[in-house]
Amino acid sequence: MSEWHKTNWRAKPRIQMPEYTDAAALNAVETQLGKYPPLVFAGEARRLKEQLGAAGRGEAFLLQGGDCAESFDQFSADAIRDTFKVMLQMAMVLTYGAKVPVVKVGRMAGQFAKPRSAPTETINGVELPSYRGDIINDLAFTPESRIPNPQKMLQAYTQAAATLNLLRAFSTGGYADVNQVHAWTLGFTEAEKVEAYRDMANRITDTLDFMNAAGVNNGTAHTLHSVDFYTSHEGLLLEYEEALTRLDSTSDKWLAGSGHMIWIGDRTRQPDGAHVEFCSGVLNPIGLKCGPTTTADDLKVLMQKLNPENEEGRLTLIARFGAGKAGDHLPRLVQAVKEEGAKVTWVCDPMHGNTIKSSTGYKTRPFESVLREVRDFFGVHNAEGTIPGGVHFEMTGQDVTECTGGTRAVTDEDLSDRYHTACDPRLNASQSLELAFLVAEELSAQRAARSAQATD
Ligand code: PEP
Ligand code: CO
Repeated sequence: MSEWHKTNWRAKPRIQMPEYTDAAALNAVETQLGKYPPLVFAGEARRLKEQLGAAGRGEAFLLQGGDCAESFDQFSADAIRDTFKVMLQMAMVLTYGAKVPVVKVGRMAGQFAKPRSAPTETINGVELPSYRGDIINDLAFTPESRIPNPQKMLQAYTQAAATLNLLRAFSTGGYADVNQVHAWTLGFTEAEKVEAYRDMANRITDTLDFMNAAGVNNGTAHTLHSVDFYTSHEGLLLEYEEALTRLDSTSDKWLAGSGHMIWIGDRTRQPDGAHVEFCSGVLNPIGLKCGPTTTADDLKVLMQKLNPENEEGRLTLIARFGAGKAGDHLPRLVQAVKEEGAKVTWVCDPMHGNTIKSSTGYKTRPFESVLREVRDFFGVHNAEGTIPGGVHFEMTGQDVTECTGGTRAVTDEDLSDRYHTACDPRLNASQSLELAFLVAEELSAQRAARSAQATD
């Protein structure tokens, strides 16, 4: 067994974590969580790692998406179903359009803790500690609400368990059967892209009918009737992560039992900090956000710490620079990866570098900027001869008005209509589907160019 231990992070500098004032209460919660079952199992995390490895080689494509922050208030079976459904639709568009298997990973069942750009927030001259996500404190702007309360970790665990239970039922219980490809459009009849989706669904149904009639479906029945759907979140609240970390008896390695994949945020990726230390020792696939301040040297140190054995699928690098900026930053990081001969999966998060304040005062993201960053990302990988392995979106199946633009254009004035996010603005169902069609175009062009080169 390695010398790593799940408590080692405690000796490292930590940032973006709450200072709990009642040590006894915190301890009691940690002990309790430590007795609860893990939410995910080592074999599942290993399978996701293999699939992410395939995405890194260009043999699959990652679709990772969900809320910026899950909330206790907006927790409902319908909301989970709708986000799951939109992700299935997006995956279908990508699979059909780019002819590539899609690895589906929700920002779900654990995405509760939020890093913040400032420790306090001031409204009308009143300054209070920032909201840090429902697992830590409350959004309401009162002094009591903003006190970190360890009990909230238990509610987060319960919600995560119930969410995952529903996702597992949807994934394998018939809902995700590809024969339902038409049923998934219900409820989205107004979106312009629904027409394009319906056309595609017709063609898929035709193909399935043909396969059934020709008897070629038998061996693939399982693949078509269910999907693999994984969970992920930022591994930010390390007391929660540690309490759910367990030794996997078959491999003698540690598993973060809180979700299949955990990632390190742009603000907490210090090579000698607590978050990198924690993530370095768990067997799960790890994501690492790469932002404008990530240097080539930082990245080399982090790759060495997080993936010393250069295992495929272990490390996903999530680029988040902002529209028009990938060209300034991504090449140096892609080159660092090449120099090290490192195996990584490159993914584009076109959300976190594109947050602006609208003329009406809301935090928003223009659809055009999101799309432009995706295109920049593909462009850099084309130029460098490397593989764009996936996308990472903040999105919801609900018809919210949080990001501007899209075919059913949301304007600055519309934002107040249905602005429900607990943190950052999300793409709504229609914007998500539209984006999937555009990503499928980029991806299929990129794959065609690659296979043309391969046969030259
Ligand atoms: C997030 O993914 O919600 C987030 C805070 O991202 P980043 O760390 O890239 O800013
Ligand atoms: Co966010």
